[in-house]
Amino acid sequence: MYYIFFTGTAGSGKTSLVKEFQQYLLDQQLDTAIINLDPAVEKLPYTPDFDVRDYIDAYEVMQKFGLGPNSSLIVSIDLLMSKAVDIKNEISEIEANYVLVDTPGQVELFAYRDTGRILSSLIIGDNKAVNVFLLDSFLAKEARTYVSLLLLSSAIRFRMNLPQINVLSKIDLLNKKELEELNSWSNGEELIDSLGEIDDYSFDLINSLIESLDSPPVPVSSTTDEGLDELYAEIQKILAGGEDYL
Ligand code: GTP
Repeated sequence: MYYIFFTGTAGSGKTSLVKEFQQYLLDQQLDTAIINLDPAVEKLPYTPDFDVRDYIDAYEVMQKFGLGPNSSLIVSIDLLMSKAVDIKNEISEIEANYVLVDTPGQVELFAYRDTGRILSSLIIGDNKAVNVFLLDSFLAKEARTYVSLLLLSSAIRFRMNLPQINVLSKIDLLNKKELEELNSWSNGEELIDSLGEIDDYSFDLINSLIESLDSPPVPVSSTTDEGLDELYAEIQKILAGGEDYL
């Protein structure tokens, strides 16, 4: 069993990609399951096989503790840890080749807090896993935002300690020129050129960021399904050493 986590900033397209990617795997007769880890989501476009909302209600937490939406989500996930045994038992009953894990938009859970990592380790157990990090290309088409999103991606890669694939989501929203420019930024020189004048600190930072990328971000769209073949190939490379897992 392989676990594929989908992380990214709020609204970057995680839930949509989980839905489309599940369909992509089903079309190849691969068994799939979905875990929803977002206690605050109201409506999902898929039917989860495990739903964290069965254990915790972020809205109730918000009312009970007088919290705002962001902090109630953080507290909800903390509270969830007290139900770790039940959660583990329910998840261990899932049978599938690939389990897709949809995560909350409050990405700080996975970038800056231990709960995200503890929760993901609990879910993964002894299985193999990969994290797909979504960079919203509509935001990332601005060079400085691209750099900030790569920094966030590195924070998550470091914190989760899983192999990670960066994805440029929503590429259908870009024109050809924007997409070409965005794709060229996996080359440090091109990226630095687009940033205009930068100081030495930024120059060194960007070069080491680009150097640390295992491979360039994969452009995908959940609206047109572009890039799903490439994403699947990257996932296979990491999880099954290029071999199909059936
Ligand atoms: P949170 O859970 O709130 O963080 O959001 P999310 O990351 O799960 O994003 P979601 O899939 O809910 O998508 C957010 C918005 O972007 C929705 O309006 C989607 O319809 C839209 N969207 C997602 N993927 C794509 C895409 O590939 N192309 C376009 N054009 N829109 C997309």
